Amino acid sequence: MINDTIQLAQHDGVALITLNRPDKLNALNADLLDALEHTLHHVQADASLRVVVITGSGPKAFAAGADIAQLNTQDAYSGRLFAERGQRVFNLIERLGKPVIAAVNGFALGGGCELAMACHMRFASAGARFGQPEINLGIIPGYGGTQRLPRLVGMAKAVELILSGDMIGAEDALRLGLVNRLYTAEELMESTMAFATALASKAPLALAACLEATLAAGDTSPLEGMHVEASIFGRTCGTADFKEGTSAFLAKRPAEFVGR
Ligand code: COA
Repeated sequence: MINDTIQLAQHDGVALITLNRPDKLNALNADLLDALEHTLHHVQADASLRVVVITGSGPKAFAAGADIAQLNTQDAYSGRLFAERGQRVFNLIERLGKPVIAAVNGFALGGGCELAMACHMRFASAGARFGQPEINLGIIPGYGGTQRLPRLVGMAKAVELILSGDMIGAEDALRLGLVNRLYTAEELMESTMAFATALASKAPLALAACLEATLAAGDTSPLEGMHVEASIFGRTCGTADFKEGTSAFLAKRPAEFVGR
């Protein structure tokens, strides 16, 4: 790792990335973003790592946002670069080609909420809190929040959350569709890792293809999306794993996917 703000552990094909600034509620400073980007590239390139889980260290926070001490020094020019830096790392998460699950163990505020939203799924502990409090600092969300939040919860609720800066609890987040699954604090990591391990046994090229086609729904018209889907579907029919999956079904035996 290029610094100690990120920890990486590996279990059964799952990469567990931990944001590691617990004394600052895992606030996203430049070192942490650099280390996260570096780690994501490493995980992307390692074919043995098939699924990613991102969580925060300590009992209180997933991440309490961009580091406000570093934010405070920005001006109109550098502020744009600051936003683009975070966006680049979060877009890498979204387009990693491997499923990424946020295990939200506490505060997910500002950039922390935006990081969770860049992941493909969010599993939360009952005490997790979500919000985009940038309005209270005189700015707007800059790491993708204005674009991803409306797509996840709808325009009306997204505007309410972004304008008010109010936090919501995990149950409200579940009801809004911001959170996929809710667990007790004690259950969160074990249940998330069990789900991730189950995903890691599936055909990796098909997992990547599912993500690519589904993400296209946010980028294209439905008609264009159908073309994208048919094209990606065709691509998966050309893989060894497709032959294995269908042959295993017909032979009534478990499939063994090889990632080709
Ligand atoms: N950037 C930098 N430091 C942060 C931070 C952030 N986004 N969020 C928390 N911290 C630091 C605090 O300054 C404090 O550091 P210190 O102990 O050296 O003083 C430490 O983390 C603990 O935070 P604290 O505020 O004492 O905890 P709390 O339980 O009283 O409050 C929050 C928790 C999350 C409500 C509060 O920390 C908060 O509002 N953070 C900022 C959230 C935000 O606006 N995020 C968007 C940024 S764009």
